[in-house]
Amino acid sequence: MTQDELKTMVGQAALAYVVPGELVGVGTGSTVNKFIDALGGMRAQIKGAVSSSVASTERLRAAGIAVFDCNEVGSLPVYIDGADEIDAQGCMIKGGGAALTREKIVAAQALQFVCIADQSKQVDVLGRFPLPVEVVPMAAQRLVRDFAQIGGQARLRMNGDQPLVTDNGQWLLDVSGLHIHDPKATEDRLSQWPGVLTVGIFAHQGAHVALLGTSQGVQKLTFDRA
Ligand code: 5RP
Repeated sequence: MTQDELKTMVGQAALAYVVPGELVGVGTGSTVNKFIDALGGMRAQIKGAVSSSVASTERLRAAGIAVFDCNEVGSLPVYIDGADEIDAQGCMIKGGGAALTREKIVAAQALQFVCIADQSKQVDVLGRFPLPVEVVPMAAQRLVRDFAQIGGQARLRMNGDQPLVTDNGQWLLDVSGLHIHDPKATEDRLSQWPGVLTVGIFAHQGAHVALLGTSQGVQKLTFDRA
């Protein structure tokens, strides 16, 4: 199976977690796009969606699904999103698609996080994928130096010859060279650094369930998040 077929498979499998008559939280990325395409087929059965990015909002609306703002709604039964890496405890690195801040916000509003990904995203230790960190622009170069102090090589994410600007009007650093053995502690520590808006470690907002695409079918993992 191609990676695209694996993404389609887990996108469709995630429909089983959508609660009829309710809202669903929707992440961002190529795997989530497959989920949105599948969700279009059950749009009449749901109240609508809360979206984590401009790109997902546009795709949801094109599929005929109403999109609500976080502030208009209470808690969501489920949030469905992809990941760049996921470890054996359901902690993740996210933000490869630049949507980490809104993803974390919507995930925090949901009772359950269902991660959809292909099996290649599973890792023993987070950090092989460069860690995305959304930062306030005026802090970027100081944060590059601060990451160097802890062994990380931070690069400003570019869009052509300009810094990429997120949906929130901020910039992104991608930090390689980190071996994240204690995701919660690292998320806590980096989140305190002045100028950091969001760290792409999702340990506090980790996955409850992962649906991983394999050539043998969908592998389901469940995580104890107590
Ligand atoms: C976007 C994300 C995505 O979930 C992550 O990058 C995975 O994307 P894809 O499904 O395209 O591999 O965190 O900010």
